[in-house]
Order: sequence, then C-alpha cells, then structure tokens
Amino acid sequence: MSMYFCFVFVQPWAVTISPQRSQEAKKFYHIKYLARMMQMPKVVKMGLSKTAASLGRVKPQHGRMFLHQKSLARLPIPPLQQTLYRYLLSVEPLLSKEDFETTKKVVEDFGKPNGVGQRLQMALVKRAKKLDNWLSQWWLSVAYLEFRSPVVVNVSPGIVCPRENINSESDQLKFASKFISGVLDFKHLIDTNSLPVDQMGGQPLCMDQYYKVLAACRIPGPRKDDLVFYPPNKPDAPKHIIVAHKNHFYTVDVMDKEGVPLTLSQLYSQLKFVLEASTQPEIPVGLLTTAHRNTWGKVYKRLNKDPTNAKSFDNIKRAIFLLCLDSSSSQTEQNFSAHVARQALYGGGSGSNSGNRWYDKTIQFFVSPNGGTGLTYEHSGAEGPPIISLVDHTLAYAHSIADDFNAMTVDAPAPKKLNFNLDLDALDTIEEAKQEIDSLAGDLQLTILPFKHYGKDFPKSQKLSPDAFIQIAIQLTYYKIYGRSAATYESASLRKYQYGRTDTIRSASIASNAFCKAMEESGTKPSEKAMLFRKAILSHKEYTNLAINGDGIDRHLLGLKLIAIEQGENVPDLFMDTAYTQSSHFNVSTSQVPAKHDLVMCFGPVVPDGYGICYNPRQNHLNFAVSAFNTSPETDSDVFAKRLSESLLEIRDVLESAPPTAKL
Ligand code: COA
Repeated sequence: MSMYFCFVFVQPWAVTISPQRSQEAKKFYHIKYLARMMQMPKVVKMGLSKTAASLGRVKPQHGRMFLHQKSLARLPIPPLQQTLYRYLLSVEPLLSKEDFETTKKVVEDFGKPNGVGQRLQMALVKRAKKLDNWLSQWWLSVAYLEFRSPVVVNVSPGIVCPRENINSESDQLKFASKFISGVLDFKHLIDTNSLPVDQMGGQPLCMDQYYKVLAACRIPGPRKDDLVFYPPNKPDAPKHIIVAHKNHFYTVDVMDKEGVPLTLSQLYSQLKFVLEASTQPEIPVGLLTTAHRNTWGKVYKRLNKDPTNAKSFDNIKRAIFLLCLDSSSSQTEQNFSAHVARQALYGGGSGSNSGNRWYDKTIQFFVSPNGGTGLTYEHSGAEGPPIISLVDHTLAYAHSIADDFNAMTVDAPAPKKLNFNLDLDALDTIEEAKQEIDSLAGDLQLTILPFKHYGKDFPKSQKLSPDAFIQIAIQLTYYKIYGRSAATYESASLRKYQYGRTDTIRSASIASNAFCKAMEESGTKPSEKAMLFRKAILSHKEYTNLAINGDGIDRHLLGLKLIAIEQGENVPDLFMDTAYTQSSHFNVSTSQVPAKHDLVMCFGPVVPDGYGICYNPRQNHLNFAVSAFNTSPETDSDVFAKRLSESLLEIRDVLESAPPTAKL
C-alpha cells in the first residue's frame, strides 16, 4: 500500500453523472438490454432471473444510486485544539516519558493563541468553503499520483477469491466468460444508477467511487501520474475489455454497438480466439507497469509518440477492465490461498504471470487453469468496499447463471491484438523490471490465515464490536512479539461525506497498551484482563466513531501541513518532531474489508519493517492476510499469523473465564 493506503479522487458531480443524459436514452438502453436478454432463452431466463435482483442482493431501481448524493454533508474540519489533544493521546503509548514531554511542548507551541496552528486552521477553513471536499484533490495527488514507488505491492491490493472448479482450458474459458458476464451485469446497475446506496450505521454513503472502478486507468507520468475514467452512457463509452494471455494483449468487444452484452457463447468464442492466437509467450511489455513510476512515466511518454503504441495504450486505458487468462504456474506455496495471493499481488514473478498484467488498469481479474481466481486493483480511484461489491456480485452471478455455451446468435467482431513498437531503452526497462519484480517476489512474505475457531458471532455474543475486537487482538499480538505497542493504521471510511475516502484509526491507544501489559504480566487476574480488554475496545470504538465522523486527526494534520506548504511557509515543527514521524511510521497497517464470499484482500506493508494485515470477518471464521518483508530481520508474517491466532484464542479464554462482573 502506499504510505497513505486509501485516498480520495473527486470529480465534479456534473462530470460523473451527465446532466445531458436523457431519460429516453436510459429507457432505450434498458429496453434493448432486456430485449437482448430475451433472445437468449436459457441465458436470458437465468440472466434476468439470476441477476442481482432475484438473488436478493440488488433490486434494480433506476436512478436510486445517487438519490442521497447531493444531500451528503461536506467533510468537516475538526477544531484545532481537539485534534492536538487527541494527537497527544495517540502518541503517548509510543513514546518514552522524556520524548512525550518534548512533544507536549511542541504541540502547545503549535496550538497557542494566534500561533501557526490557528493561522493554518483558518486557511484550511477558507479552502473548505470553496471546495466540495477540502481534502480530495490533495489526497489524490500526495497519496497516489505523486507516489513514485511501483504500484505493485506498494499500492495495489490483491483479492484472493475462493478456488473454482477448473480442470481444463475449456473450464477456464467458461468461468472467465461467466465472470465477464457478471461484471457487465454489475456495470449495467452502475450505468443505470440502480445500485442501492451503500450504508454505514444506517446512513447513506457517497457512491461516487463506483464510477471510477470500471473503464478507468492510471496513466504514468515522469513526475506525477494521472487518473482517467470513461463514464458510461456517453456515445463513445467503451464496449471492450482487454484480455491478456501469455503476455499478449487483445482488445475484445464484450457488447454490441448498442451496448448490449454478448452472450456466454459469444464471450467464450472471443476468449477461445485469443487463446488460439497466442500460443507462444510475447515480450512481457506489461512488466513496464511494474516499474518505478518515474521510469515508466518517461518510457511511456516516449513510446506514446508512436501511433501504434498510442493506439494500444488508448485501448487499454479505455477498456472496461482487464481479464488475465493466466498460465499454469508451479505452486511453491503449501497453502493454495497464499499462492493465489502472490498471483493477485504481483502475478507470481516474471517466470509466472507478472508480464500477463497491466498494473495501471484499475481492475484486473485473473483466472488460472488451476482454479485460482482473483483480482488486482489500482487503488487511486476507489477503496476496497466498492471493489468487493463488484466481486461479490460477479461471483454470485457466475455461480448461478446457466451453463449455456451453445446458442450462438450474433457474430461479434474478432478480438484484435494490441501491438507495441518497443525501442531498445524500453526493452532494457523490461529486463530491469523483470529483475525487480523477482526480487520483490523474493522479499515479500505472505501468510493467509483462515482462523476457524470463531467468527464475528463471538464478539457479538459478548456485546463487543468485532472490528475493535480484532484490532485489539492485533495489538496484543504485536506486543507479545516485540514487548511494546507500535503505530497502527486502520482505514476508516469517510464516505458519509461527499467524495469522502478514508481517514486513519490509530489503533494503538493508552487503553490497548494497558491491556497488552496486563496480559503479559504474570498474576493478572482474568477478571482484570477482561475489564482492560473491554476498556481497550471502548477506546477503539470511540476513535472509530471520531474517524468516520470526520474528527480523525491524520487527515486534519495532513491538511495543516499541506496548506503551510501551499502558502510557501516552512513546514511547522510539529511535523518535524520525532513523535509525528514515529506515529506515522505505521509498523502495522490494517484494513477490514468484509465480503459476502469467503475471500480475503491482501496488501503489502507500508514500511520496510512493518506488517500489512487485511481481514474479512465472517460469521463463523475470520480470514486474514498478513504480509511482511523478508529483508527486515524483525518481521515474519508466519510468526505474526500464528501468534495472532493464539491471541484470539487467549482473549476468548479470558472473556469466558471472567465473571460477568468484569463487564464494564
Ligand atoms: N455488540 C453486538 N454487535 C455489535 C457490537 C456490539 N457492541 N458492535 C458492533 N456490532 C455488530 C454491528 O452491528 C455489525 O453487525 P452486522 O454484522 O450485522 O453488520 C457488526 O457487529 C460489525 O460491526 P463492527 O465490527 O463494529 O464494524 P463496522 O462494520 O462498524 O466497521 C470499520 C468498522 C472501521 C471497519 C468501518 O466503519 C469502516 O470505516 N470501514 C472502512 C473500510 C475501508 O474503507 N477500507 C479500505 C480498504 S481499501
């Protein structure tokens, strides 16, 4: 993940939802869509009856997706003194007494009446009056587009889907066809603004990110990248996907001229065409997208001057998504999920499928002949939850649609291979990228932990928030291994606000630290441990509520820093203080990404000596993906996962053995 993990991309409302788009056009599209489905007896029936509507996930209802959009509140700016006070609370468990006293003085000085802090706060408030979201454009730039490390592992998460029953090339293509069909079904819901509005605690969330998921792409630049997307319902809205096979890239139409999706049989024959036309591996041009962004940006700029290259790049960036038909790769991991996680995060290495990817593309699905399936997503435009909605919908669709691969009706235009004219410099860059991706592959340690002893039902039965429960278990695990608490990041959704993305929940607290200490001290009674655990949970929940309600401290402090820079001022001492650096060096970067399917998202650590931990809490079990770097002698994802499992069991024992009076 990037240093910041999740961030905001804002586009003015009028751009994402065309006000010109007439109701007539929408009606026409829908009628054509239905009519087309009706031409396909089995598929139609299943297609219609088994779409999200009838599966109980989504009831198509045109226009409702953005019903609340305009009434969503704007992201607030918290009061300065509140942020400074909370900042001190958050750094206390991470600092020595001496360092904490120094930090207190630095903070006092920053926040004094008529001081730097107040001046910057006023400038920030002024900015907020002019913009729909005071943070979004900044966030997009500093967190993503100006972030220069390779997107692979550092920015782009992977999703490990449940294993599919794929035993032959034909199975691979059939599943891929259903998958495409499922994505198009979801796209139809987006295009007709029919998705139900996501909610959190009964409140509507901003749905803007759904418009940045399909037909979107990151464009490399020598100093800063760009993000483009092609909204639906425009005359030139994309109707194709890119299919990658053995490092070849093909543009494949998946809709007819009127935007009606092809049938499963048609999709199957399109994919078969690609497979048969690409039997030998091509130069892995896709590896360029794994390079450092400055390097790739320079190469891209030069290559883009060639009309053939420019056409191929254009095809990729406009495509609805990228489908990678992967080749078999030897499974070195004992754990199949960990093997698929590697495919999802970096394609398994240059000898595997890393060249069969285009990492700038927002969505890349992959389907392997061994039944491994998943997705890689470029993070600039959206957070995990909208991506998971797409995956949940698509998997449910693919598993329920009839296996109809016979009824050929309309011929679709044959797939076209994308050609690239590569100069010597580009070929050298590919060679370097090969070495870098392999060294990254060697460095990244990944552990998938399906914790089977209980799921989120257990914390709920104890009247505790499952998310806070898991976070405190992570705190305990770190403390047990290292004997101290570490700066910990948890993503908090800001989608209650217009164009909101995320803030940080700082999970290491005074209360979590006290609990961890008590757990490690011999002689602490179970009742006391249980009481301290519940206190730690309350403290976490309180921080969560602050963060999701726009009162988090990290984005506010970032805003104060950026406004100082924008105004040409020196970066204030507060940001040069050890406490700031240490508390933003997130040794533990975490995120809850819940899903209806038994899958798990994974991402890399954000610092060289850190852990990346993503989890999907299910009713009866918890899925974790833990990552670390081998080059750090201090971290080990296998050990962390094992100790996490022990912590979760230990906490359950503590709660079950403590008398009810231990409850707060
Ligand atoms: N007693 C019983 N049940 C409780 C409870 C309690 N004290 N507290 C919470 N629960 C229940 C909730 O009602 C909910 O029930 P459900 O399973 O029926 O929906 C469930 O437990 C989960 O609640 P909780 O564990 O508290 O988490 P949450 O769903 O509120 O999520 C965050 C917390 C921080 C993860 C969420 O607010 C958030 O911000 N997510 C953003 C994720 C994101 O964007 N990630 C980016 C990835 S790129």
